[in-house]
Amino acid sequence: MDSDQEKKAAAAKSLQWIKDGMLVGLGSGSTAAHMIRGLGEKVIEGLSIKGVPSSDTTAELAREAGIPLISLEEAGTLDINIDGADEFDAKLQLIKGGGGALLREKIVAYNSRINVVITDSAKQVERLGKFKLPIETIPFATKNIITELDKMELRPVLRKKGDDAYETDESNYIVDVDVFKQNDLVGLNNALINIPGVVETGLFLDTTHVIIMGKDDGTVVFEK
Ligand code: A5P
Repeated sequence: MDSDQEKKAAAAKSLQWIKDGMLVGLGSGSTAAHMIRGLGEKVIEGLSIKGVPSSDTTAELAREAGIPLISLEEAGTLDINIDGADEFDAKLQLIKGGGGALLREKIVAYNSRINVVITDSAKQVERLGKFKLPIETIPFATKNIITELDKMELRPVLRKKGDDAYETDESNYIVDVDVFKQNDLVGLNNALINIPGVVETGLFLDTTHVIIMGKDDGTVVFEK
């Protein structure tokens, strides 16, 4: 089965977790987009939920799908958050941010009681880091941060959009780094967050409760 079919299968299965009256975090990326379209259909059929989008793109998609949206401030704590991932391992640790939405995604995940991650089978890895880890940085500090990441031997690369630096929804930059050889991801994450001007990293180490992975013509569920 191709990866889009697996993404669709995982997204469809995740809808079973969403119950009437819930406040729902809406993830970003192509797998989350399948979930949002499916959720929109349920809303049209009468399901009453409110969504908090994790990116401007997701907000637009959710509005088109007919999902009522509220701000995180209005929501407070969310009942559930459903989002994709770029990689996950056996401990349900993730790398996210391939689409550049990691900051709001992490805030929504942190403020959700249950985090369900939906992926295709290509995202399952034995060791995180084949996918480059995105780090969101303040533009003012980015050049100096890159120098520091270089000293840490993380092979930093400023993400570009055409000739310009890629800008996130929060008007920050993204630096992608190589963490494949890192053994202590908690320590690394703390070291990265401690660099002034680093806003957030795409390492989601302890937020995930459930992963629904599309595999061949079905789904596999991993739970903590
Ligand atoms: C967005 O910034 C990412 O964190 C996405 O969740 C991730 O890139 C997964 O994307 P796909 O569902 O498109 O593979």
